[in-house]
Amino acid sequence: MKFSNTLIYWYLQNKRDLPWRKTNNPYFIWLSEIMLQQTRVAQGLDYYLNFTTTFPTVFDLAKAKESTVLKMWQGLGYYSRARNLHYSAKLIATDFNGQFPNTYKEIIKLKGIGDYTASAIASIAFNEATAVVDGNVYRVLSRYFGIDTPINSSKGIKEFKELAQGLIDKAQPGTFNQAIMDFGAIQCKPKKPLCMFCPFSESCVALQKNLIAVLPVKEKKVTLKKRYFNYLVVKTKDEKTVLSERKGKGIWQGLYQFPLIEENHMVTHEELVASEKFKELFPNDVLLSLFNKKNIVHKLSHQHLYTQFWVVEIDSLPFANISWKKIEKYPVPVLIANFLKEFKPNE
Ligand code: ADE
Repeated sequence: MKFSNTLIYWYLQNKRDLPWRKTNNPYFIWLSEIMLQQTRVAQGLDYYLNFTTTFPTVFDLAKAKESTVLKMWQGLGYYSRARNLHYSAKLIATDFNGQFPNTYKEIIKLKGIGDYTASAIASIAFNEATAVVDGNVYRVLSRYFGIDTPINSSKGIKEFKELAQGLIDKAQPGTFNQAIMDFGAIQCKPKKPLCMFCPFSESCVALQKNLIAVLPVKEKKVTLKKRYFNYLVVKTKDEKTVLSERKGKGIWQGLYQFPLIEENHMVTHEELVASEKFKELFPNDVLLSLFNKKNIVHKLSHQHLYTQFWVVEIDSLPFANISWKKIEKYPVPVLIANFLKEFKPNE
């Protein structure tokens, strides 16, 4: 049997009895879909009933004070949803004469509405065949078809949307969309899905290959930190420099480096000379010049190091005790090794 037929057959026997399923009114469907973002059906239900009773039409919502709307939203969280809802209600009431836009293309222009919500409203209220892809849909499709493309990658987002769009029942898109979401929520649950009694058990790739627990795949997004390093490459008259060992936790423990001034942005010559740390290191006049004219960005897995190598020429310095001739004996990070390949201290 076709995927959509099996799914809809399951839905007709198992669907949840929800108030917004008894209406075609786009305003009610819009309310329910906004409320159900980042909120469970059970939690959203009372809010939906309260909203539709207090504001039975889009004009009633438009007329309300924002503080009233926010008060009624209290406890649902993500308050920008309520503010956007109110903003769009006013727009629909005044500019559109209360008529809700009736195509995906127009609906997605409303504030606070993305691909998911526009697809849900267009399909449920207006019968337009636009597939929804929410967390439930990712789970159902990744398992059934055995797809391991990360669902939070741009490739995954495109792939699953296209797949769902290809599967949708064009004669009853709203029913298909709600069926796949209910199937994900009730049957193909994240943990302990009911595979023993599943109408797809014969053809589900994840079940056959024992991949239920690993699908869908989510990419771990590492937050990338930008750091701004200023290395001070001391050059004394007697051909000495300063290196010290990196201590403590963090990158490059035990490796050697030039004195480092880290700032929270890329500094200029003037800013560096004026900084407390620089004055502490070099209380007397020095000749300072930037060695790398182009930015060096050293990329580590979780951080990008924007690095400037500053040459500090000075007659003598008590703590400059490393001979340039012996510098290659010290273990240094690649960032500094690359610099040393370019830098000629005698020139
Ligand atoms: N989650 C959000 N909207 C839904 C709907 N209309 N049906 C099932 N689950 C949903």
